[in-house]
Amino acid sequence: MNRIRTIGKPCFLLILAFLQVLFFVVMYRRGSSKIFESFSKRNGENWDYSKVKDIYTNLTLFTPALTNELQYCPPKSPLLVGPLSITFQNIPSLKRILKKNPYVKRGGLYTPPHCQARYKTAILIPHRNREMHLRHLLYYLHPFLQRQQLHYRIYLIHQAGNETFNRAKLLNVGVRESLKDEDWDCLFLHDVDLIPENDHNLYVCDETYPKHFSSAMDKFNYRLPYWSYFGGVSAMTPEQYMKINGFPNSYWGWGGEDDDIAYRVRYAGLKIVRVPLNIGHYKMVTHNTDKGNEENQKRFDLLVKSPRRWKEDGMNSLEYKLISKRLMYLFTNITVDVGAAPKDRKTKTRS
Ligand SMILES: *[C@@H]1O[C@H](CO)[C@@H](O)[C@H](O)[C@H]1NC(C)=O
Ligand SMILES: *[C@@H]1O[C@H](CO)[C@@H](O)[C@H](O)[C@H]1NC(C)=O
Ligand SMILES: *[C@@H]1O[C@H](CO)[C@@H](O)[C@H](O)[C@H]1NC(C)=O
Repeated sequence: MNRIRTIGKPCFLLILAFLQVLFFVVMYRRGSSKIFESFSKRNGENWDYSKVKDIYTNLTLFTPALTNELQYCPPKSPLLVGPLSITFQNIPSLKRILKKNPYVKRGGLYTPPHCQARYKTAILIPHRNREMHLRHLLYYLHPFLQRQQLHYRIYLIHQAGNETFNRAKLLNVGVRESLKDEDWDCLFLHDVDLIPENDHNLYVCDETYPKHFSSAMDKFNYRLPYWSYFGGVSAMTPEQYMKINGFPNSYWGWGGEDDDIAYRVRYAGLKIVRVPLNIGHYKMVTHNTDKGNEENQKRFDLLVKSPRRWKEDGMNSLEYKLISKRLMYLFTNITVDVGAAPKDRKTKTRS
């Protein structure tokens, strides 16, 4: 009997492991098929990404209306063309981008000149030492948003100084500062190195739930890297953002904060909705990890504490020093001192 037990044990474990793998495979498959299901229901079109159009196609057809009383823009913009041609071979100069976008006003603000926009969207981009990426993004994002006939403004939230980068806190600052300018319908939390590839990916919020937009990035072979992924590009209404108490201020360096945010969404009784994979295509401008944004070693620690901390660490504990707010030609530059990571674990995480 004894002998059978000792032989049986590893065998049993092996079966257990096998069942576990099987379980994950089945779950994963069901998960991804759900996405395709919602895709085929909500959008019958099958996009062919080998046929792309220039992002400035037809934009100049829409010049200012001659009357003062503007009609609402149509619910579906007539300018949308689908997959767009995106390349990073030449870095466009700011002068060239400016010339191509004559209707963008100082501060990166745009209102359709020929119709009354239905949505007001603020784009918030956390930033430091990424000027080349920024130029690529501005070159593509301005015409992209104009194709969708939105009223929009592009904000750069620039972290001053040399302390470790804090993406999530910069976004909190962006939300607070941008809402001083206007009652935005929708806040886009946008990485500087991600370029949307399909203009049917409308930069408009879901009324009920936080929405994830970069569901299919080229870096991940146009698939989700994992099921709860919430990084890259996402959007919330100001109400949704406040309901989850914004983002955590305590993630310094690369990684973890997007998972924390995904948790918060659930704790607040919400869920994440996603742009269908076939529309949520994004290209990433490649780069090496840079100085001042090293991997956050404490991120797993922080994640474990997330259920207890989300109500205390966020918009209601946000402190920062606004250094400047400059209206550049193609964006608003909000430069901010967000403080520094605590030096040891005894110091408070609040900066
Ligand atoms: C946009 O341009 C294409 C040609 O590139 C043309 O076929 C199409 O009709 C134009 N669309 C509008 C709304 O003018
Ligand atoms: C940041 O680092 C650069 C070079 O590494 C240095 O020249 C600069 O003075 C530093 N700035 C601050 C605010 O410490
Ligand atoms: C934003 O403003 C800050 C402070 O003036 C400046 O150091 C930074 O270079 C600016 N960033 C860009 C991209 O213009």
